[in-house]
Parts: sequence; C-alpha cells; structure tokens
Amino acid sequence: MPTGKGRSIKNSLLIFANLFVLTVAASCTTFDDIDALKTLRYEAGHQKGAGFCASCHEDIYNQWSKRSRHSLATTSPSFHHTMRAYSENIVVGLFMDEGMCYSCHGSKDVNEGVNCETCHGTVLRGVPIEKTHADKFTPRLSKLREPDFCARCHQSKTPVSGDNLSSTYTDWRASKAAAEGVTCQGCHMGKRQDDTHAYHGFDTAVRDETIYRGLLAVGGIRYNHPELRLTIENRIKGHSVPAGGPTRVLALELSFRDNSGTELFAKRQTFSKRFSLIPIVGAVPYRLIENTQLRSGEKRSLRVTLPSDVRKRPQRLVIVLRMYEVSDEYAGDIGKAHWASKPILQKEVDL
Ligand code: HEC
Ligand code: HEC
Ligand code: HEC
Ligand code: HEC
Ligand code: HEC
Repeated sequence: MPTGKGRSIKNSLLIFANLFVLTVAASCTTFDDIDALKTLRYEAGHQKGAGFCASCHEDIYNQWSKRSRHSLATTSPSFHHTMRAYSENIVVGLFMDEGMCYSCHGSKDVNEGVNCETCHGTVLRGVPIEKTHADKFTPRLSKLREPDFCARCHQSKTPVSGDNLSSTYTDWRASKAAAEGVTCQGCHMGKRQDDTHAYHGFDTAVRDETIYRGLLAVGGIRYNHPELRLTIENRIKGHSVPAGGPTRVLALELSFRDNSGTELFAKRQTFSKRFSLIPIVGAVPYRLIENTQLRSGEKRSLRVTLPSDVRKRPQRLVIVLRMYEVSDEYAGDIGKAHWASKPILQKEVDL
C-alpha cells in the first residue's frame, strides 16, 4: 500500500500527466488519431462464433484455431496484461479505453480473437446460412483478396507523434514482393499440401518457431580475438522482421564459452521498433526513437568486442535466435517480456 505521502506525490504526478496529455492533445491531431484507433476494423453485430462455421469448414477452422495467432487475440495473457495497463490507468483511461484494443483484436462478446466473422462479416440472422453466403461472403471475397485488406489492422500509427506503430503494410509496399505483385494473402494464405482452400494458419513464431527456418540466416562468422564479426539476413521478400510494431523483438543471443562449455561472456543483440513512452502513463508509445528491425532482403553486419575483463580466449560460440513479446513495460529490458519463442535458429561453432 502506498503511504499518505506517496499517494499525494502520485496524485500530483497524475495531475501533471493530465495537463501534459491535454496540452499535447490540444496542440495536434491527437484526438483524430485516437478516434482512428478506436474505429472498429470489422462489422459490428452479434456473431455466431467460429464453432458454427466449423460445422462445415472443419479444415479451415482447425488451421485457424491450432496455428493462428488470430484465434488468441482476445484471450492471451499478454493482451489482457497490456489492456489493464491502459484501462486501469486514470490518465490514459480519460481518452483511451478497451474499445480501442477490441477494434482490431476482435469481438469482446464472443471472445475468440480475430475470427471468421471478423474478416468475412457477421452471419445474417434468421435466414438460411446459404443466403449469407450468397449475399455476403461470396461478394466480399474480392475485397478480402485486395492487398490492403490486412492493412486495416496491420498498419497503424501512434497517437501524439503520428509515427508508424506497425508498418507491415508500408514495408510491404516498398518490398520486392509488392513490385512482383505478390500480396500478403499470396504468401500467407497460399494453399498448402493437400488443401483445397486458402490456408488460414496465419503462422506465428509463438506457436511454431520453425516458420522462419531458412528465412533468417546467420553467417559470415569470423573471430579475431577479442572481436567477433557476423552477419544476419532477412530473406523474407515481403517485409521486415519482426513484421509488426513494438510488441515483437527478435533477439540474437551469443554465448562465448571455453572448452569445457563454461560461459565466459554473453551478448544479446535485439532487432525491434523502440518508442519513447509518455511519462508516468508508461504504456503509451509516443515517438519512434529507434528502428532496428531487419528490412526485407537486408543482410546486416554485426561486430561484438569482448570486454577486456574477459581474460580467457573463448573456444566455442553458441548462437540462438528467438522472438520475444514485450507489449508494455519493456523499456529495453527483455527480462520483462511476456513470452519468448523456442529457438528459431540454433548453432554452435568453434572459434
Ligand atoms: C451448413 C454448412 C456451412 C456453414 C455452417 C458455413 N458454410 Fe461457408 N460454405 C459452405 C459451402 C458448402 C460452401 C461452398 C463450398 C466451399 O467453398 O467449401 C461454402 C463457402 C464459403 C465461402 C466461400 C464462398 C465462395 O464464393 O467461394 C466462404 C468465405 C464461407 N463459406 C465462409 C463461411 C463462414 C465465415 C461461416 C461461418 C460464419 C460459414 N461459411 C459457415 C457451407 C457452410
Ligand atoms: C481485424 C483485424 C485483423 C485483420 C483484418 C488481419 N489481422 Fe492479422 N492479426 C491481428 C491481430 C490483432 C494480431 C495479433 C494477435 C495477438 O498476437 O494477440 C494478428 C496477428 C497476425 C499474425 C501473427 C503475428 C505474430 O507475430 O504472431 C499474422 C501472420 C497475421 N496476423 C497475418 C494477417 C494477414 C496476412 C491478414 C490479411 C489476410 C491479416 N492478418 C488480417 C489482426 C488482424
Ligand atoms: C490497429 C490495430 C490494433 C489496435 C488498435 C491494437 N492492436 Fe494489439 N496488435 C495488433 C497487431 C496487428 C498485432 C500483431 C503484432 C504486430 O503486428 O505488431 C498486435 C499485437 C498485440 C500484442 C502482442 C500479443 C502477443 O502476445 O504476442 C498485445 C499484447 C497487444 N497487441 C495489445 C493491444 C492492446 C492492449 C491494445 C489496446 C490498447 C491493442 N493491442 C490495440 C493490432 C492492433
Ligand atoms: C484474418 C482474416 C480471416 C479470418 C480470421 C478468416 N478468414 Fe477466411 N478468408 C480470408 C481471406 C483474405 C480469404 C481469401 C483468400 C484468398 O483467396 O487469397 C478467405 C477465404 C475463405 C474461404 C474461401 C476459401 C477458398 O479458397 O475457396 C473460406 C471458405 C473461408 N475463408 C472460411 C473461413 C472460416 C470458416 C474462418 C474461421 C475458422 C475464416 N475463414 C477466418 C480471411 C480470413
Ligand atoms: C513474399 C511473401 C510475404 C509477403 C508478401 C508478406 N509476408 Fe508476412 N511473412 C512472410 C514469411 C515467410 C513470414 C515468416 C514465416 C511465416 O509467418 O510464415 C512472415 C511473417 C509475418 C508476420 C509475423 C509472424 C510471426 O509470428 O513472426 C506477420 C504479422 C506478417 N507476416 C504479416 C504480413 C502482412 C500483413 C503482409 C502484407 C502487408 C505480409 N505479411 C506480406 C512472407 C510474406
């Protein structure tokens, strides 16, 4: 429990924060930006839920529910943790609420993330499902196939500074894939193996770290004591890695060891979008301060110098690549991540 004095300091800080937010809000397009973020990216209305569609589209349902991150978008612990940071904060609560989160993450009522109806439209009530197919689902398919359909949710800017929070779409627009006419759906939804329909797995490193196999490469390793040089390459033709906004951090973890396997030195290099945070409010991204995401097709050279207090020359190097989720209190401290994927890539080399 905070003490009386602590509470009064906290209160004056909150008043300060209020003034700060209001001043900023009055001085730029913040309110428009916030409204834009609150706008539903899908049709409102009571949904039947994915279980209903599953009765006839079992394969698609299984791909969506077992592989896709979409199916967890309203239930994952990290989503709720981050949403609480917003909605329970007096200052942020003034102008942002959980509606803003559900505007992209899916219906709060059915609570199953971005589901069939979020993308395809809600079922028409009181008429046979065939009529919904004919009147709604079929005509909509052409819209769903358009390149900017995914951008509704996968591209957004932060209120206040207007920097791109997630820029998967603008990344794609500038990519080789776009130049070749390959869309998000073209890569993510192409039929797999024996499928007779568009793939709905929307694979995520959270559920399957092997999706990046062959697409992220670490090479060019040269060790000239005390300096290591290596390269890391993003071979995805469509966009940066990590693909999204500040919630995902790719980390290259290097462990320098002696012959017996004892670690002499460890270094973690991260690739992500970093934003400065509004004071006190903390959770609200403000201005893009650094973007170290690996651009599509980029091969980046890295250099690591062992500090002079590491006296022994290392003999082995263990390299691991992992994806982390850091939606709220991160501020550069990976220890605060909500989860980490299993190794996307792991190798060991003699130095
Ligand atoms: C009673 C069975 C049944 C249910 C329930 C059902 N569908 Fe269908 N759906 C079909 C059949 C049959 C087709 C046509 C054959 C195919 O593409 O599999 C179809 C086709 C579709 C198509 C492709 C339309 C086209 O023109 O190619 C979409 C999109 C679709 N369904 C979405 C849904 C969604 C979303 C739900 C749940 C809200 C749903 N369906 C529920 C039976 C059903
Ligand atoms: C209604 C909003 C919405 C639409 C439309 C949408 N997505 Fe998503 N997508 C999300 C949200 C929200 C998440 C994050 C879910 C989570 O992790 O909690 C997500 C996650 C993903 C992921 C996994 C990302 C990761 O790092 O785990 C992929 C891949 C993806 N979407 C691809 C697509 C593609 C391709 C399209 C277009 C065909 C699309 N999405 C359309 C909202 C949407
Ligand atoms: C403009 C659409 C949009 C809005 C609004 C939005 N999100 Fe997201 N969110 C996404 C997408 C897309 C992803 C997938 C990662 C990426 O692309 O950055 C995501 C990922 C996340 C993740 C990472 C989930 C995980 O475990 O991997 C969290 C947590 C999250 N969002 C929380 C929130 C909260 C809380 C709010 C409301 C304050 C919110 N989001 C508002 C689109 C949105
Ligand atoms: C993130 C958005 C999204 C979600 C969630 C989603 N779909 Fe789709 N669906 C699409 C898109 C985009 C297409 C068109 C893909 C293409 O043809 O390239 C599509 C196509 C389809 C088709 C036609 C497939 C074909 O190849 O004939 C059916 C059927 C369908 N979806 C059913 C479902 C069902 C059932 C669910 C829920 C289990 C679901 N969808 C969830 C975006 C989505
Ligand atoms: C040239 C092919 C290609 C195009 C085009 C493409 N992607 Fe990707 N994307 C990939 C590959 C490959 C991966 C990593 C493995 C996977 O998810 O299958 C990936 C990963 C992602 C991820 C992160 C998944 C995770 O968990 O790390 C998201 C989100 C995503 N893409 C969204 C999009 C959106 C939105 C578009 C369109 C604006 C798009 N992609 C266009 C190939 C593509």
